Amino acid sequence: MSDTLADKNQLDPSKRTWLIATGCAGTAGGLVAAVPFVSSFLPSERAKAAGAAVEADISTLKPGEKMTVEWRGKPVWIVRRTPEQLASLKKTESSLADPNSQRKPSELTPEYARNETRSIKPELLVVVGICSHLGCSPSDKFQPGAQPSLPDDWQGGFLCPCHGSTFDMAGRVFKNKPAPDNLEVPPHEYLSDSKLLIGEDKKA
Ligand code: FES
Repeated sequence: MSDTLADKNQLDPSKRTWLIATGCAGTAGGLVAAVPFVSSFLPSERAKAAGAAVEADISTLKPGEKMTVEWRGKPVWIVRRTPEQLASLKKTESSLADPNSQRKPSELTPEYARNETRSIKPELLVVVGICSHLGCSPSDKFQPGAQPSLPDDWQGGFLCPCHGSTFDMAGRVFKNKPAPDNLEVPPHEYLSDSKLLIGEDKKA
């Protein structure tokens, strides 16, 4: 769990998109934090190349924690939001570019996630961790309050270190930022309370 994204990418040349993302972040001051990489799924290399769905075990994910799995060479974040983080979604609404996930809905937000929390289960956020501007990987900024590069009334969310786009705890982009769109919610479904399938859903 201590490997960095860059370490992981060096092991697998298929993760080019992600490499670009981490490289971009690195030039902006190395602000990308090490993200735990989940090893609870092991699809074959051939299956991964074909974009196979991946299964994630979320049984140990605690409130306020994020885990990352790889799907189609992209990082998919799973965040178990706290009640406070869920409450923050109301406070951010008026500052968001697309609070109701109406832009490019077929690409960015499956029907079952076109709601305030952008999720099937309110507490669990599932998004692709790639900025909709130029593909950097945003950093976790879950702590509310004033801090460098963020507004004084920050409610918690994600900051893209490349050009300063910000996203709330539902991956919704703030207004007047370089990133035009919310973070993508990938197709997904719950196989059980502890098992999440990413890359497929009941409509697939
Ligand atoms: S790539 Fe994220 S703000 Fe430019």
